[in-house]
Amino acid sequence: MKAKVDQDTCIGCGLCPSIAPDVFEMKDDGKAHVIANPVPAGSEDAAKEAEGSCPVNAIEVE
Ligand code: F3S
Repeated sequence: MKAKVDQDTCIGCGLCPSIAPDVFEMKDDGKAHVIANPVPAGSEDAAKEAEGSCPVNAIEVE
């Protein structure tokens, strides 16, 4: 499973790293970045939840 954050779309709300801290991290640019690709097996559900929770649909998990 791969995760992607569209940097142009992310508004830096911080939700995804709080839901899936092993997959997403806030960086100095104020945006979320993927820190684990492929997504670790134990974090796949959290990554999907983050995808569904992002208010601007900036996350793609497949
Ligand atoms: Fe950005 Fe969405 Fe995460 S706005 S910080 S990608 S939940």
